[in-house]
Amino acid sequence: MTIIPEVAALVPQMKAWRHHLHAHPETAFEEVATGAFVAAELRALGLDVHTGLAKTGVVGVLSAGDRGAAIGLRADLDALHIHEKTGIAHASRHEGRMHACGHDGHAAMLLGAAAALAQRRNCAGTVHFIFQPAEENEGGGRVMVEEGLFDRFPMRAVYGMHNWPKLPAGSIATRAGPLMGAFDIFEIVVTGQGAHAAMPYQGKDPMLFAAHAIQALQTIVARNLHPLDAGVVSVTQVHGGDTWNVIPEEVVLRGTVRTFDPAVQALIEARMRTLVAGIAAMFEMQATLRYERRYPAVVNSVDETAHALAAAAAVVGPAGVVADPTPEMGSEDFAYMLQAKPGCYVWLGAGKGPEPPGLHSPYYDFNDEVLAIGASYWVALAEQQLPAGR
Ligand code: NI
Repeated sequence: MTIIPEVAALVPQMKAWRHHLHAHPETAFEEVATGAFVAAELRALGLDVHTGLAKTGVVGVLSAGDRGAAIGLRADLDALHIHEKTGIAHASRHEGRMHACGHDGHAAMLLGAAAALAQRRNCAGTVHFIFQPAEENEGGGRVMVEEGLFDRFPMRAVYGMHNWPKLPAGSIATRAGPLMGAFDIFEIVVTGQGAHAAMPYQGKDPMLFAAHAIQALQTIVARNLHPLDAGVVSVTQVHGGDTWNVIPEEVVLRGTVRTFDPAVQALIEARMRTLVAGIAAMFEMQATLRYERRYPAVVNSVDETAHALAAAAAVVGPAGVVADPTPEMGSEDFAYMLQAKPGCYVWLGAGKGPEPPGLHSPYYDFNDEVLAIGASYWVALAEQQLPAGR
């Protein structure tokens, strides 16, 4: 492990930042105090600070010379609507909100990297420190891109990071190509005809539609996708009926679809439409399908992935680099930044203990042991990509 000395000296400061943010979580597009806190710290470091992008987003700019080369390093700021159950000293002071995904740690590591890079002055070019709101659900990354992030702050590549409790502390994982899935949602509303449950021949039972549809939707992945293509179709909600002896008029099904490849995504949506219409026709009912594409897949570019792996190796050593992890179908709105710019998203190993609470668990707390590793990775990446003295 090679922790950068300036970063090692900043560990108490990063912990203090992290615990403050953890105790004061704010959710999507409401990160007003969080954004102000980050902006004040960046100003104190002497950076050029821009606020108001995507409402509560902050960009800090550190420039050395004007050679034109620039990269972006991105952290997210938002918390989740979860009631924290950790019982730790820095637990949430905001009822019903919690930093259960470690974005407090992400912000602290990026602040630490900004502080270390500002001290070291060992880069020729510009580093943009991007503090993004609303990663969870609301797509703050998309809004930042739409509001001109890359026009106002030109950069050749953008890099992201997420702590990953399933990987041991001291490791960094990523791969070229897809790393995390596209996230879509769907809602199926089927209207039959209500009736007395003892006289079902007098109605049209939408429960039957639901039972058939839930099974039929699983045939898409099993029977329509190429066996080496990846896709997930999960029905996660079934709503219908109020009592024992009444066949309801309507049933609603909801769920999510995850894919890596837009062609697979299109195929799944098309097959869902065919199946829903077909089952509805079979039972002489009306059914509608609302299919909504949310976050695209996180797809890392080849060169920038090589750069990320080189920076990772400089910090965690070759043994700590996981160069071809199995992708996950969880999603991440850094995908929007990667659609606009080349770049790479990495998983920072953050496991502690044999069974660390997972992301979004009410018992989760960011592992402070990896603050120095993540911040050192950022510093190594910036200094390797924008080398001084050339
Ligand atoms: Ni997260």
